[in-house]
Amino acid sequence: MDRVIIFDTTLRDGEQAAGGTLNVQEKLEIARQLEKLGVDVIEAGFPVTSPGDFEAVRLISQEVRTPSICVLTHANLKAVDDSWEAVKGAANPRIHIVLSSSDIHLFYQLRKSREEIIDMSCSTVAHARKYCDNIEFSAMDASRTEPEYIYQLLKAVIDAGATTVNVPDTVGYAMPPQFGDLIDGVFKNVPNIGSAVVSIHCHNDLGLAVANSLEAIKRGARQVECTINGIGERAGNASLEEIVMAIRTRSDFFNLTTNIDTTQIYRTSRLVSDLTGFQVQLNKAIVGGNAFRHSSGLHIDGMIKMPTTFEIMDPKSIGIPSSSLVLGKTSGRHAFRERLSELGYSLKDADLNRAFTVFKELADKKKDITDRDIESLVAEEQRTVSEDYHLKRIQVTCGDQGVPTAAVRLIGPDGKTKEDAALGTGPIDALYKAINRIVKVPNSLTEFTVKSVTEGIDAIGEVLIRIESDGVTYTGRGADTDIIVSSAKAYINALNRLIAARGKDS
Ligand code: KIV
Ligand code: ZN
Repeated sequence: MDRVIIFDTTLRDGEQAAGGTLNVQEKLEIARQLEKLGVDVIEAGFPVTSPGDFEAVRLISQEVRTPSICVLTHANLKAVDDSWEAVKGAANPRIHIVLSSSDIHLFYQLRKSREEIIDMSCSTVAHARKYCDNIEFSAMDASRTEPEYIYQLLKAVIDAGATTVNVPDTVGYAMPPQFGDLIDGVFKNVPNIGSAVVSIHCHNDLGLAVANSLEAIKRGARQVECTINGIGERAGNASLEEIVMAIRTRSDFFNLTTNIDTTQIYRTSRLVSDLTGFQVQLNKAIVGGNAFRHSSGLHIDGMIKMPTTFEIMDPKSIGIPSSSLVLGKTSGRHAFRERLSELGYSLKDADLNRAFTVFKELADKKKDITDRDIESLVAEEQRTVSEDYHLKRIQVTCGDQGVPTAAVRLIGPDGKTKEDAALGTGPIDALYKAINRIVKVPNSLTEFTVKSVTEGIDAIGEVLIRIESDGVTYTGRGADTDIIVSSAKAYINALNRLIAARGKDS
């Protein structure tokens, strides 16, 4: 069977989603997980746009050796030189050059002629070829470009040395049959197309990113650009998990394979959601909380008799933990470690000890500890480990009769205890004001959400917040059975990220 190259752009287009900034360590963590997932190419960043992206690409190139590591660059020689500096340490580096092709972009944005675009594209591709022989060229807004011009442009860049040519539906405008015809046209009308891989990159503005990608694959495209959970600019990109599972589940239709270890999908999805702060909608295909939940009596009856009556995929094939096993107060370290490893975590001894202590504390408050509780607990541990400020204790009083009051004790970066208190319009307002009196970093809260990790009145409550400072958004998360404590943890997490980012810039 033919294989489709999975090009993951979670760390580049995915991170471009409004409010989705990741720091260097978080990008590295996601890149390691993408390697486990088995993607062929990781687009690790757009290094000329920020020093943070440059550093992330450099580190990922050094550490993540199996997939090809790709950098996106503008079509100018200096940008190619600078981008190469970030990716040159990779085992298999790729330079990805992007330039607009549609008249609407040429006329209003670039103010260049079609001939100038061909010249700029070819000279940059030829220049990049001096550094490496793995060069991708993207004709931005290809789906709104006159097809004859696309054929001409792709032929020219292949002659100049491009080894992958990408046909993006940049604004999510295409309809599947029409997009498929464009790909057919590329195969029929670009005489040297056999010397390059044809790629597609679809956005989801009309909810058609996956449909367009699959149609293009059906017509012969052999690289698909996609992101975990479909995150990305505006309405996002085509979702990796949906494309991969469609190719696998309907292999009778596609007769194609990928290199993806599908049992890593669920874990990758959770990691990306945790680190970006973008929650996965309940009814999202493949990885949504309801994707394998059956509710109607008729369906449940069928499922009991034979799961394939209502399930076209086995949840285990996506890595969704199968057992309904719950841990509790009496579960020992061994059972805890076993469960962690079944969930895909392999913690070092020190981390395991810390996580086990927190697990025991949680088991004192909550009778049944489920897989979701364990995931939340490990994520919480990983978050707090390298932070400047730590929460030591909080005391909050509130109600409909008095003035909400919060007292906070933190451990600062110098290891010293700092305390303060404040009044507020509500408990969170009082709490955040008390923290502000200690940390003193101006910011404004732009988003605050609470959700319970599992059912039940004793569930862990996860708080996700976003704060903004100097036009940059920082995400924070916290989890605890007490949502006021979760709120404090989330705020301190966001402040720590803000402080770490400032430290790097100064
Ligand atoms: O949407 C787009 O066209 C892109 C290109 C860089 C491929 O993201
Ligand atoms: Zn894009």
